[in-house]
Amino acid sequence: MTQATAATPTYSIRTRGLNLWYGDFQALKDVSINVKPGIITALIGPSGCGKTTLLRCFNRINERYGNVTTTGEVTILDKNIYDEDVSLSTLRKSVGMVFQRPNPLPISIYENVLFGVRSHTHRGEFNRRQRDEMVESALRDVQLWDEVKDRLRRRATYLTLEQQQKLCIARLLPLKPRIILMDEPCSALDAEGIERIEDLIDELREKYTIVMVTHNMAQARRASHECIFMLMGRIVEHGPTLDIFLKPKDPETELYVRGRYG
Ligand SMILES: Nc1ncnc2c1ncn2[C@@H]1O[C@H](COP(=O)(O)OP(=O)(O)O)[C@@H](O)[C@H]1O
Ligand SMILES: [Mg+2]
Repeated sequence: MTQATAATPTYSIRTRGLNLWYGDFQALKDVSINVKPGIITALIGPSGCGKTTLLRCFNRINERYGNVTTTGEVTILDKNIYDEDVSLSTLRKSVGMVFQRPNPLPISIYENVLFGVRSHTHRGEFNRRQRDEMVESALRDVQLWDEVKDRLRRRATYLTLEQQQKLCIARLLPLKPRIILMDEPCSALDAEGIERIEDLIDELREKYTIVMVTHNMAQARRASHECIFMLMGRIVEHGPTLDIFLKPKDPETELYVRGRYG
């Protein structure tokens, strides 16, 4: 293998025979998928089908939510993240996550952006100028800098929901993630906020692999390049978004994209 292919794996996320149980309830069944870099992949399917659970396998955050057993493989950047020697802290640096409701910390905008970096580095590792640069660069990347540059010391919770969600994306960036997971990132926003966050996500995809859960079919169609359709913990179909919507291979996919499931 040449170095170039080693540095740019064909797939950002690859799962093989992934199963997950909450107690004795099996929420994921034999999931084998390949997620590509440079595009937005949407996880779609009816409520309760396992979208959030699958997304949370990619940074092993499910393990925080009770009695979880996982079998199978999830390979991220050429490493099975379920191997025993995996550092969860390193994993969660390279695989960032954005939630349904923006969840900035009740501290300043500036300190929100630096929060992840501070918890992953030693005190004094970055000087003031470097910290300022990290904050500016992250806020520019999420198109928030011009709006907040004069009030960086204000509490982040004063921002609008749209601004808060941008901030929640910004605070991942100083950690230099490779993958950003988003669980219904627009569900708290109004139509204009949704449009601007979708535009932002589209810009980010060049640098970060993006996997987004959405139950909104119009959004999946507008904002993703590939869709993974799930039902009751299984993958039914995975393909280019237009194929999923216009010529689905599976009759269950067809029923769903035509709006006949809940
Ligand atoms: N912490 C948990 N403990 C037990 N069951 C759970 C837990 N989280 C989710 N589930 C169950 O797993 C299934 C998949 O849930 P989830 O991944 O949240 O679905 P989706 O995001 O597609 O709505 C559902 O039946 C849900 O009730
Ligand atoms: Mg969910």
